[in-house]
Amino acid sequence: MSFTILGTGRAIPEYVLTNDELSTMVDTNDEWIRTRTGIEERHICKKETITELCVEAANNALENAGVTAAELDLIICSTMRGENLTPSQGCMIQKEIGATCPAFDVNAACSGFVYALDIAAGYFERKRVKKVLIVSMDNLSNITNWTDRSTCVLFGDGGAAAVLGEGNDLLSIHITAVGNDAAIRIPHGTNSSPFYEHEEERAVLYMAGNDVYRFATAAMTNGIKKAVEDAGLEQKDIDCVIPHQANIRIINTAAKNLDIPRDRFFCDVQHYGNTSSGSVPIALDEANRSGVLNKGDIIAMCAFGGGLTTGSCVIRWNK
Ligand code: UT7
Repeated sequence: MSFTILGTGRAIPEYVLTNDELSTMVDTNDEWIRTRTGIEERHICKKETITELCVEAANNALENAGVTAAELDLIICSTMRGENLTPSQGCMIQKEIGATCPAFDVNAACSGFVYALDIAAGYFERKRVKKVLIVSMDNLSNITNWTDRSTCVLFGDGGAAAVLGEGNDLLSIHITAVGNDAAIRIPHGTNSSPFYEHEEERAVLYMAGNDVYRFATAAMTNGIKKAVEDAGLEQKDIDCVIPHQANIRIINTAAKNLDIPRDRFFCDVQHYGNTSSGSVPIALDEANRSGVLNKGDIIAMCAFGGGLTTGSCVIRWNK
């Protein structure tokens, strides 16, 4: 047994930061950002906390699934940085939605949602759970270097959740990691020990954009190929691809390399930028709620990010 997706929900902060407003902060312009990334705007937390967004996404997903918080057997939150080091973000969600089940966090950067699906699949396989909530949320504006034009234009805040129930709709899943702190790294930033001898670094994102770009195009092409093969399917059987929304050019390249028509790749990067772990489930929720997905559709999801990690899977949409 694997699982079926019973419902999805997202939470996006209200404030919209446009390319034009960014152009007043760093030496950039709307044309560069659109043509190099496909991003037109992103949402940024002003009043919202990450816990508030997680709870909103969780409640939206529970409502969409017709499941109550009391029915949940497990909560997994994928995030790089929750509200606190402890309690985990998963425990904060459990408290706020009124669930009573175990809860924990997983950090696989932008691949977090697929990693969480893989972990959940193991719990279903071992018959330890009947209902699982996954919430994938990052607040990247908090760790963005707002003076670095090569990274600050790429990211946004927000995330989404999915409620899983018993079923057999996970057809394949594949996760990878290659330990690498040169391509993408976000240091913790603080160390309160008076004994520690290393220099403190700012808690902001460092990225070697071109290296990540090369990694990302290969990861998306190979990840989807592998997940489709492992599912015993052909690429033409895929009705919808939900790719990590980092850069429209990465998605276009994957579409060219694969035997899947470009119009089957769901894209919302223009509105959100790269929201890290929130990216794939936000797109899944948009596809769910906008009627793009039909019962029985075969969906491929694929993510890549810091770690360096990747995650890809094929699921049957049964909603
Ligand atoms: O979730 C995983 C996280 N990350 C990613 O997926 C990111 C993957 N990488 C990328 O998407 C791309 O590499 C970027 C969007 C980051 C960069 O695009 P690029 O086409 O590889 O540009 P580049 O870094 O080669 O820079 C080209 C030029 C440079 O100027 P010169 O040296 O040619 O004069 C940059 O200084 O563009 C300049 N540039 C900018 N210009 C205006 C870099 N950032 C900006 C900017 N506005 N924001």
